[in-house]
Amino acid sequence: MYSSLLLVTSLLAALPVNADGLYTKNSPVLQLNPKTYNSLIAKSNHTSIVEFYAPWCGHCQNLKPAYEKAAKNLDGLANVAAINCDDDENKAFCGQMGVQGFPTLKIMTPSKKPGKPRVEDYQGARSAKGIVDAVVDHIPNHVKRATDKDLDKWLGQNEDRPKAILFTEKGTTSALIRALAIDFLGAIDFAQVRNKESASVKKFEVTSLPALVLVAGDAEPKIYQGDLKKKPITEFLSQAAAPNAPASSDSKPKPKPKAKSKSKPATKPTSVADDADDVEPTTAEEADTKPVQTPIPAPAIPALSTPESLEAACLTPKSGTCVLAILPEASEPDEALPAPATAALASLAEIGHKHAQRGSHLFPLYAIPASNPISHILRTALGLAKGSAVEVIALNARRDWWRRFGAADEDFGAVAVESWVDGIRLGEGAKEKLPDGLVSGAEAEAEPEVEAETAPEPEAEAEAEVEEQVEPEAEEKPEHDEL
Ligand SMILES: *[C@@H]1O[C@H](CO)[C@@H](O)[C@H](O)[C@H]1NC(C)=O
Repeated sequence: MYSSLLLVTSLLAALPVNADGLYTKNSPVLQLNPKTYNSLIAKSNHTSIVEFYAPWCGHCQNLKPAYEKAAKNLDGLANVAAINCDDDENKAFCGQMGVQGFPTLKIMTPSKKPGKPRVEDYQGARSAKGIVDAVVDHIPNHVKRATDKDLDKWLGQNEDRPKAILFTEKGTTSALIRALAIDFLGAIDFAQVRNKESASVKKFEVTSLPALVLVAGDAEPKIYQGDLKKKPITEFLSQAAAPNAPASSDSKPKPKPKAKSKSKPATKPTSVADDADDVEPTTAEEADTKPVQTPIPAPAIPALSTPESLEAACLTPKSGTCVLAILPEASEPDEALPAPATAALASLAEIGHKHAQRGSHLFPLYAIPASNPISHILRTALGLAKGSAVEVIALNARRDWWRRFGAADEDFGAVAVESWVDGIRLGEGAKEKLPDGLVSGAEAEAEPEVEAETAPEPEAEAEAEVEEQVEPEAEEKPEHDEL
């Protein structure tokens, strides 16, 4: 076994350790570890955005001002958090979340299953506005849009529960009212009524818009007339029912869930109306909005070290295309791989990683160590050089062809290998017929499809939640500039 086969993998573990995160204690960005992710994000009724970063990553440092600004603008509306993937306690978690480059931004939207939010990558502009808009779009809407016809029926539902009715000229449901409805989920029901519903307007004696009416028990409905800001509105509504307890079950006092308004300093903007001004202009610092990531070293391509594993993966009559790096023999145990072989492995790892990051399908790539007895058989059957040089080949047992990567000057660099791989993807280039006897026959039916063997995408589970997610009711695009 070549010790250097493990080299690329071990690079991952050997990333520089830096316990200090990018964000200070006073940052509006909430700092997470796997435990607080679970309590503050996964179990939150609010939408969250989480940045997975490494402190040494330049693109992460560049993102910081815009991200902190987004956190301020989203204060009271959504959780804005970050997790330092360089920190040993977080590394495994970042891997589980499918993080393959820094920074990675993911939006978590609460689903019907508590603790299992829908997770999707944020791929938009790395600007405060881009982030705020995307997160606001993901805030669930628990606000009933009522008309004269159905308001009474709605008021009769959940009889004991207080009701808050927003009278407004708008047809859309603002981020602020949606966030309030989430704060009071299960405690106060929210509806929004347009001013054209004249019977309802008259019934509740609404004279100016917007107006928030609180109906609790048999008492006279109360009309809220203060600032359209989250903190005073929360206080007003709290006379009827307490908002949900802050999500934090963590003993650390510092990170408070940003979406809970009660504990936040009064100096911070609490109304989205205020923030609209902040969000609008694109400042110079945000000009570089092209999402770029610092790649973490690509994970090594898997090695097939037994004849059976190679057969199962690539040599059944059903096997699709496989790319194999057939590694050279070492003259001594533990001898390092020669440079062309290392280059070939690194190039294939990079290509595979690139496709995985993009989520695009690529045939499997495998390393075949010389210790796998089948490597001799392959070399002989395909007429390849005996033992001393790395060979990169593609083969397709189902379609009965193979191709050899012809390295000019032993150039196994990523550019050369990738253009060869792309040629295969596009079906270009001359193929040769596979020699007889290489593809196993009898047990073919029982062999799994190669495609089925490729590891599931880390997000596959999260994506499966999509259907179960609470769909916002609003068919119009939600606004977030005014109540
Ligand atoms: C989420 O909403 C439910 C009501 O649907 C409530 O009981 C629960 O306390 C809320 N969770 C948090 C963390 O606020």
